[in-house]
Amino acid sequence: MLIDTYGRVATDLRVSLTDRCNLRCTYCMPEEGLQWLAKPDLLTDDEIVRMVRIAVTDLGVTEVRFTGGEPLLRPGLAGIVERCAALDPRPRLSLTTNGIGLRRTAAALRAAGLDRINVSLDTLRPDVFHTLTRRDRHSDVIEGLAAASAAGLAPLKVNTVLMRGVNDNEAADLLGWALEHGYELRFIEQMPLDAQHGWQRGDMVTADEIIGSLRSRFTLTPEGESVRGSAPAERWLVDGGPARVGVIGSVTRPFCRACDRTRLTADGQVRNCLFAREESDLRGPLRSGASDAEIAGLWRAAMLGKKAGSGLDDPAFLQPDRPMSAIGG
Ligand code: GTP
Ligand code: 5AD
Ligand code: SF4
Repeated sequence: MLIDTYGRVATDLRVSLTDRCNLRCTYCMPEEGLQWLAKPDLLTDDEIVRMVRIAVTDLGVTEVRFTGGEPLLRPGLAGIVERCAALDPRPRLSLTTNGIGLRRTAAALRAAGLDRINVSLDTLRPDVFHTLTRRDRHSDVIEGLAAASAAGLAPLKVNTVLMRGVNDNEAADLLGWALEHGYELRFIEQMPLDAQHGWQRGDMVTADEIIGSLRSRFTLTPEGESVRGSAPAERWLVDGGPARVGVIGSVTRPFCRACDRTRLTADGQVRNCLFAREESDLRGPLRSGASDAEIAGLWRAAMLGKKAGSGLDDPAFLQPDRPMSAIGG
């Protein structure tokens, strides 16, 4: 079991498969990209599957989410999914992607055993998509979503970050569109995890603002804490349900008390929190012959350093050294 000193148990593992991305979202990374990890520093497919196996069989992890950067850029993704789906006990398997490339891969990923998928899409307008991501790939994402839906990946969630003056006027339109297609839309408050360190609290579109703007067109009723569990999203029933909309208010409505996450970066570092300033190296021990039991012990120890909260409200808050794209979101 992965338990921290506050009694929280981590059963949800997020594995970053690469720090690279084919978009350049302004709230994430600069136009020129970043200094990517070198290939020898990345865990191999075998090493990833071994780490997931240890997490599932020795540490009580039940849910594994693959992230990036952009995880569809990892050539061995379908193979990794297939091998993780063959583990006993079988973890639930999900993916968080920007959707580019899904049109070609969704069916194969479903066949490999992927259960669910979350796709990032911030706008319905191709020109705004270009402003936000610096790439002209809007139609690829829309087609990717349709392919994922056709492949039976459900529920299909769409993640949206609203940026003031750019796409914050689209909240209600996005919800209308998501309802029409049967996607579950979640709005995410912008977090200070960008590589450029450009986040400003005053610029952030808050959860309250988002709810307010959705209420101009829809009736929202809180789904209630009892259904939320450890999910980062607070959800509302839209116009009486059953459709829902979520808001992930990491900054103004933190959910750290219920956090059930542990993270593994593409270069084999365990992080006990998205905002942690320390990582624990498991790649070194892995490559120098540590046993499964030793790796599990190091992982357990890493979780004991998990703080009560993200520290975002502390005036002395410092961003983690690595940006979101290298941590795995
Ligand atoms: P499900 O609810 O299981 O579908 O997934 P998820 O919402 O946890 O995953 P997803 O990758 O779609 O993440 C959505 C947003 O939640 C991203 O912006 C993540 O960075 C954020 N998020 C995920 N885990 C955490 C966390 O532990 N803390 C905070 N503050 N945000 C998180
Ligand atoms: N703040 C909030 N969300 C972010 N994402 C990427 N960077 C940030 C940030 N700084 C979102 C992506 C994706 C999800 C995994 O996290 O848009 O939907
Ligand atoms: Fe890529 Fe995701 Fe960062 Fe956008 S937010 S640049 S899709 S890693």
